[in-house]
Amino acid sequence: MGIDQGKVIVTGGAGFIGSHTVVELALAGYTPVIIDDFSNAERSVLDGLASILGREVPCHAVDCNDGERLNELFAAEGPIRGVIHFAAFKSVGESVHSPLKYYRNNVGSLTTLLEVMKAHDVWDLVFSSSCTVYGQPDTLPVTEDTPMKEAESPYGRTKQICEELIGDVVKAEHPVRAAVLRYFNPIGAHPSSEIGELPIGTPDNLIPFITQTAAGIRDELIVFGDSYATADGSCIRDYIHVVDLAKAHVKALDWLARKEKRPAQEIFNIGTGSGASVLEVIEAFERASQQRLAYRIGPRREGDIEQIYANADKAEQVLNWKADCGLEEAMRDAWNWQVALDRKSKPVD
Ligand code: UD1
Repeated sequence: MGIDQGKVIVTGGAGFIGSHTVVELALAGYTPVIIDDFSNAERSVLDGLASILGREVPCHAVDCNDGERLNELFAAEGPIRGVIHFAAFKSVGESVHSPLKYYRNNVGSLTTLLEVMKAHDVWDLVFSSSCTVYGQPDTLPVTEDTPMKEAESPYGRTKQICEELIGDVVKAEHPVRAAVLRYFNPIGAHPSSEIGELPIGTPDNLIPFITQTAAGIRDELIVFGDSYATADGSCIRDYIHVVDLAKAHVKALDWLARKEKRPAQEIFNIGTGSGASVLEVIEAFERASQQRLAYRIGPRREGDIEQIYANADKAEQVLNWKADCGLEEAMRDAWNWQVALDRKSKPVD
């Protein structure tokens, strides 16, 4: 066993990115403690984590808007080395129809969490932000200094507001040191196939839709438009393996601990640095899984950005983090996870 790096509260730790981060934290010698209200996660994730790590991960079923419960929990769990705040809603489409749900959950929970951190003298925060804060940028790749455009959705706006909220708290000399990670498009699954993406209902995101279509759960994938100003006409994103993304959180916590104890905020793009089109993703999936995918070209999706990918040099220089996995590897892990899920859901004779 290595040196104990201390206890880390992981809100939303039963979610897709959260659960993979819990694994990487534990492997790096931290003691993760999950807080998740299971509004958009399955309890079976905890079994997957226990299989990978060979031990149970402590978990509290608490809503991060519940300040009283959070206070009790911080008191009971202390001393706490830091907090990684994933817990948030993330459906762009739903946020357009239910903006208050997004403001309450995404902005409300961060406010409550920062109050509780202050009360318990917990300084280090890693915050889940998104490349959605850039809107459709004028120049690519985007750096952390690329100006934010007006958000395309209430979801995107909550992420912009949360970043500004943290900035205001830091300026007021409240005790917080924050690393804000702007994720590009997380995909893939843990190579053990014990944890992965578990969308409830019809997936909004591309990769679970692809794997569910190949598994026969969906009839076909609709490619949302092929008349964009890109080489093949489909949209371009920066797809990053979720394990690479998870490792960035560990690097961010390590880095925060090395900093002087005074309020500060730094923003990092967490992407691979290269873009892939929807049609290229489909090709990578077919190669990695040896499956043919049923798809057709459909109309554009409202609010979609034509193309975005990261300049992630700052994360490499400051955090010493860089994405390792390629697209095909991520598609292989996503497919293996889908196959494992199907196997679990079928009754054994
Ligand atoms: C968006 C946000 C991201 C956010 C995520 C949460 C941007 C740039 N990105 O990701 O920050 O965290 O939502 O859900 O705002 N596609 C299809 N057919 C499908 C599904 C998707 O062609 O059935 C295409 C989309 O048009 C897009 C790509 O696949 O080009 C990826 O889509 P998706 O997985 O939904 O993620 P984003 O919309 O990029």
